[in-house]
Amino acid sequence: MDTVRIPTVSRYTSKSNPGLSSPTALRRRSMASAVPTEKTGGSGIGSVRSQPTGDSFIRLHLRKLSAYQPILPFEVLSTRLGRKPEEIIKLDANENPYGPPPEVAEALGTLKFPYVYPDPESRRLRAALAADSGLESDYILAGCGADELIDLIMRCVLDPGDKILDCPPTFTMYEFDAAVNGALVIKVPRLSNFALDVPRIVDVIEQERPKCIFLTSPNNPDGSIINDEDLLNILQQPILVVLDEAYIEFSGMRSRMEWVKNHENLIVLRTFSKRAGLAGLRVGYGAFPLSIIEYLWRAKQPYNVSVAAEVSACAALQNPGYLESVKNSLVQERERLYNLLKEVPYLKPYQSYSNFILCEVKSGKDAKKLKEDLAQMGVMIRHYNSKELKGYVRISVGKPEHTDALMKCLNLL
Ligand SMILES: Cc1ncc(COP(=O)(O)O)c(C=O)c1O
Repeated sequence: MDTVRIPTVSRYTSKSNPGLSSPTALRRRSMASAVPTEKTGGSGIGSVRSQPTGDSFIRLHLRKLSAYQPILPFEVLSTRLGRKPEEIIKLDANENPYGPPPEVAEALGTLKFPYVYPDPESRRLRAALAADSGLESDYILAGCGADELIDLIMRCVLDPGDKILDCPPTFTMYEFDAAVNGALVIKVPRLSNFALDVPRIVDVIEQERPKCIFLTSPNNPDGSIINDEDLLNILQQPILVVLDEAYIEFSGMRSRMEWVKNHENLIVLRTFSKRAGLAGLRVGYGAFPLSIIEYLWRAKQPYNVSVAAEVSACAALQNPGYLESVKNSLVQERERLYNLLKEVPYLKPYQSYSNFILCEVKSGKDAKKLKEDLAQMGVMIRHYNSKELKGYVRISVGKPEHTDALMKCLNLL
């Protein structure tokens, strides 16, 4: 999943959270009090009792939280664009257009016990992941997507008012979940080539003592990777490092899952959404030091990985040849797409180690309008308007025919 989210709590940027902004919402907000109250007027006879509004029950920091704008579901998009879902070329959410191997549909079609709750420990899946990754299953915990694990980690680690360190532009869920968990976000923006500003990160850790840092390799949205030296340097600091490897398969690099055995302050997150085309089934997993995983087991929802999700992920791992060939096709297509985008006079694409390519929109063209014009032609891409990424678009790598259709449209604009 990848959604457009409105920025939330941010400590080092002056942009404050606008919160709810419609006139009705603002009125409701000013009426709401921190604690539900019952007002009585006069001496009792003919007294006026006013019921508290519903939002007054909501925790204060959540009342200030901006809503996020999810990507539109296929069916809604299809109605809006007046096109059948299969006619829409969806290059806006880094999904894997090849989908999972055939074993997944077979396994889902023959589910024996859908009426029984799933295994709270996802034992079958964790054993398969241990075989797949080379890391023992004791270090592995599965979740309802990597998204669930990001939130679970924050719930276990952060007290209200604690700080996290975020390095934008990056995956916006870190910032969003921090806000939901009542934490403050300290931002150390990436350098102009999207590399981490490691000296600044080290300084900020020393001065501000954030509890954890979220690092993404390859990074969404630019596709850059973190080298061993930078990662080791950050791991030496007194901070919990959450390394998000949602796209690691497309990078040609080895996962750092096994590093959790030697670094008590490292967590590595991965997902089936990209590598196995299972974004809709919601399966993610993480590698954790034993001293941390124990607490996540205690705090997680018991049935966080559904029977369908576990069965699908296990079935996908049974066909590593398929996963490898799909990955190779996407990596090959990424290079072709990059070379073609370089030829578009108003785009500057960035080399990527992932299944998407970030492009700066130049020559006076408006990035938002480009996205909208492409959408009218049935091609969905992602547009950015954040402080760090004004005038950029991100294009997911699809099948060769998707690239062809995209290029045809880009050449018309
Ligand atoms: C960097 C990153 N991490 C995690 C996720 C979420 O993964 P999942 O689908 O497993 O929740 C995404 C989804 O786009 C992502 O870009």
